[in-house]
Amino acid sequence: MTDLSTLRSRLEAIGQGHLFRYFDGLTIDQRVAYLAQLQSLDVDALPGLIETYVTHTPAAEVPADLKPVPYYPFNPAARARAWHRHEAKARGEALVRAGKVAAFVVAGGQGSRLGFDGPKGCFPAGAVTGKTLFQMFAENLLGAKDRYGAVVPWYIMTSPLNHDATVAFFKAHAYFGLNADDVMFFPQGVMPSLDLATGRVLLASKGEIATNPDGHGGCVRALHVSGALADMRRRGIEHLSYFQVDNPHARVIDPAFLGLHAGAEDSSGEMSSKMVVKASPDEKVGVFCLAGGKVRVVEYSDMPAALTTARNPDGSLTFNAGSIAIHAIGVEFLERLATDPRFALPFHRAEKKVPCINPETGQPVTPTANNAVKLEKFVFDALALARASIVYETDRLEEFAPIKNATGVDSVETSKVLQTKRAARWLQACGVDVPMTPAGEPDCVIEISPRTATSVVELRAAMLPTAVERGSRIAL
Ligand code: UTP
Repeated sequence: MTDLSTLRSRLEAIGQGHLFRYFDGLTIDQRVAYLAQLQSLDVDALPGLIETYVTHTPAAEVPADLKPVPYYPFNPAARARAWHRHEAKARGEALVRAGKVAAFVVAGGQGSRLGFDGPKGCFPAGAVTGKTLFQMFAENLLGAKDRYGAVVPWYIMTSPLNHDATVAFFKAHAYFGLNADDVMFFPQGVMPSLDLATGRVLLASKGEIATNPDGHGGCVRALHVSGALADMRRRGIEHLSYFQVDNPHARVIDPAFLGLHAGAEDSSGEMSSKMVVKASPDEKVGVFCLAGGKVRVVEYSDMPAALTTARNPDGSLTFNAGSIAIHAIGVEFLERLATDPRFALPFHRAEKKVPCINPETGQPVTPTANNAVKLEKFVFDALALARASIVYETDRLEEFAPIKNATGVDSVETSKVLQTKRAARWLQACGVDVPMTPAGEPDCVIEISPRTATSVVELRAAMLPTAVERGSRIAL
C-alpha cells in the first residue's frame, strides 16, 4: 500500500494534484474511504490512458480486410455443409446434465438510458405479471433443472454501484426459488471518469473520485479476482452461457448452441456467439465480421458505410450478422484471458455527461454537454483472441426483446409486444387458437414463464388451453 505522501507526490507528478485539493477538510472517516479509492487507481497506467484516449481521440481500428462472417443458419438445411440440430442439441444437453454449464449474466451497467432507480435486473419486465428480469432468468434455470435434472449455477456480475442492492433484492425474494449457494454475485471493477478537456480525474465530491464500471469486458478480470473462475473449476463447470441483463428473451440454456460451441469441428470451444439477421442497414447493432481469419464484432458506428449498405445479388445485406450479445465461453479460455497479459482486452472511449465538482471552486457541476471520457472494455473483443470461434444464427423474435430505453425503440413497451408475439407464435405452433387483429397482431397479452418453456418443443409438454380469449391477459 502506498503511503499518503508518496501517493500525493506521484499524483502531482502526473498532473492529478487536484485530487488532494480538499483532502485536509475531510473527516477522518472520509479520508480513509477516499484514500482507499485513490490507492485503487492504477497511477502508472493513467498518463498512458489519458494520452491515448483523451488527449488524442483514437480512430476506430477497423481492419481493412473485413469479410462477412460465415454462420450456422437457424435452419440447418440452409447451409452448404448442413449441421444436425439434434446432434448439437444432444451434445449440449449432455453437458448440462453433467453439470458442466453455468449461466453468466453481466448486470453491472449503469442503465442510464432506462433511467430506472435500481439495478436493471430488478426492472419489472413481464408482459402480464410484471415480473422482474432477474426472476425471468431464475425461471430459466429452474426450468433447466426440471428438464435436465441438473443444477445450473448462476454467476451475476454487478458493479460497486449496484452490488448491495442486487444482493439484497435476491435475498428479499428468496433467490426466486434457487439455492442461494448456486447463485454467486461479484462486482466488476471501475475506471476513473476523466475530464474530456484536460484528462484530469473527475471528482464526484471533495472526497470521492467519479468512476464508471469498466465495461462488460471487465468481466474477465472480475471473474478471476472474485474467485468465480476458481469456483467454476471446483464445480467442474466447463462452459458459460453469457447474456445481458436487459434481454428477457435470452434463452439461458440453449442446448443446440452449447453443443455447437463445445463440439462443432470449426469451434475451439473457447468463445461462440449468436447473431440475428440485421433488420435494416441502419440498425444500430454490432456486426460480426471476419478479419485476418478471426471473428470480430465491429460496432455500428465504426463500420464503413459502404460495407453497412453493401448487398448481395439477391438483395440481402452482405454484412448482415447482427450481434445480440449472447455468447458461450469456455472457462479455460477465460482463465487464459485473465492471467496472460498478451490477452488483455483493449479499452474503448465514450464521451458522456458526468456530474462532478469543479476542482477549482468545489462547486457541483451538472453538465449539459459531454464533459467526460469513460473507458470501458468490451467482452466481444475476446472473440479475436480465441483460436477459432463460431457464429450461430437465431431467430430475432425467439431471442431478442431488449429493454434499453424508457420509451420508444427497445423499451419496455416494445419488449412486452415482442413477448406476446413470441408467446402467440409458440401457442399457435402447439395448436392453440390465438385471437388476432385484422393487422395480424395477437389480440391479447400473453406471457410464458421460462420455467414453463423456453421453446415450442418445451411448450408442447405443458398443460395448455385450447384457445385464448380475445382481449384477455394470460400468464402460463
Ligand atoms: P449497455 O451497453 O446497454 O449499457 O450494457 P448499460 O450500462 O446497461 O446502459 P446505458 O448504456 O447506461 O443505458 C449491455 C449489458 O452489459 C452490462 C449491462 O448491465 C447490460 O447487461 N454491462 C455494461 C456491465 O455489466 N458492465 C458495464 O460496465 C457495462
